[in-house]
Amino acid sequence: MTILVSGGAGFIGGNFVLDWLVQHDETVVNLDKLTYAGNLDTLQGLRGNNRHVFVHGDIGDRELVSDLLSMHRPRAVINFAAESHVDRSIHGPGDFIQTNIVGTFNLLEAVRGYWDGLAEDEKQGFRFLHVSTDEVYGTLSKDDAPFNELNRYEPNSPYSASKAASDHLVRAWHHTYGLPVLTTNCSNNYGPYHFPEKLIPLVILNALSGKSLPIYGDGQQIRDWLYVRDHCSAIRRVLEAGKLGETYNVGGWNEKPNLEVVHTICAILDELRPKADGSRYSDQITFVRDRPGHDRRYAIDARKLERELGWRPAETFETGIRKTIAWYLDNQDWVRNVTSGAYREWVGKQYEVEL
Ligand code: NAD
Ligand code: TYD
Repeated sequence: MTILVSGGAGFIGGNFVLDWLVQHDETVVNLDKLTYAGNLDTLQGLRGNNRHVFVHGDIGDRELVSDLLSMHRPRAVINFAAESHVDRSIHGPGDFIQTNIVGTFNLLEAVRGYWDGLAEDEKQGFRFLHVSTDEVYGTLSKDDAPFNELNRYEPNSPYSASKAASDHLVRAWHHTYGLPVLTTNCSNNYGPYHFPEKLIPLVILNALSGKSLPIYGDGQQIRDWLYVRDHCSAIRRVLEAGKLGETYNVGGWNEKPNLEVVHTICAILDELRPKADGSRYSDQITFVRDRPGHDRRYAIDARKLERELGWRPAETFETGIRKTIAWYLDNQDWVRNVTSGAYREWVGKQYEVEL
């Protein structure tokens, strides 16, 4: 059996592929465009593993995706591919519209063509799982209940609006064409292989290199943090047992203001890698101009996933953040390549498959 994963050279997709190949005996076809966020170094350990087939390509390339589907005949497609950084979406929304909306549309059409042609039993078993975000629900006030699956979509950034549009397309392809889809809406992830444009890896790496730790606005914005491997286990569970056409919110019950997250990272670094001059990492904290339209609070109510599918996260924020910091300290080669840009030389060209 085979699954097709898109965006599997990115942060969450990469963790998903690595975990999947340990836990299952199925092959993974990994389709990734290798944008700045795609990093083949993350998949280094899979060299020579014939159950991992890397394909350099775009989810928006309908012909390529159709060829891959008819060649590999996957039983499921899991869509991680996206432009994912809110700040980039503010500076240049075009790529977000192109990949997250038009790309998802083309992917859905290629998958629909493949699924239509399957034998009845294969059709029944097939799944399209779309990986999405809690940011589609907009922002919460301090006393609001966390987002559940019935919350209205009220996206505020070009990123979240493009993800919201993709969720609507996925929903429509189920209702109109019967495509067997599942959607997950997850809170902020953190963990190994996270590109250092996002808060947690940026703070760890800036702290270690003596740079400032930029806090947007007053630093009291709240995010609900989930260790990436817990997100991956939730996706596996939804793929296995999720009800067709349903959406599942995924979260770790770990709401934290940004400033507290940054202080926690600094305190752990003070302990694990004390500075030679005796100063504290938190001395590097700098308050900077706020992000335009900055959502104040995200929080996920993950009770549906727990109640219906029995999923719970394995990590608390305290255990997960320690693991994450230890990983960055222990994986200096990955860090060096990502910070120098060397990872973009696509050293893994031999992964590529000729069609
Ligand atoms: P990422 O930016 O680290 O990785 C995205 C990957 O997709 C990269 O490898 C990139 O090369 C690839 N890609 C981009 N455009 C593509 C295209 N047109 N065709 C094929 N591949 C393409 O993102 P991530 O943090 O791993 O997020 C993965 C998914 O999870 C996204 O859909 C994101 O919206 C969602 N999500 C992320 C978070 C989070 O906290 N990071 C939380 C909830 C949901
Ligand atoms: P980020 O990791 O970009 O995720 P998202 O915007 O999808 O939640 O940012 C997490 C929070 O941290 C968000 O409130 C913005 C804030 N932030 C900073 O304060 N400083 C930074 O340098 C970055 C990248 C983010």
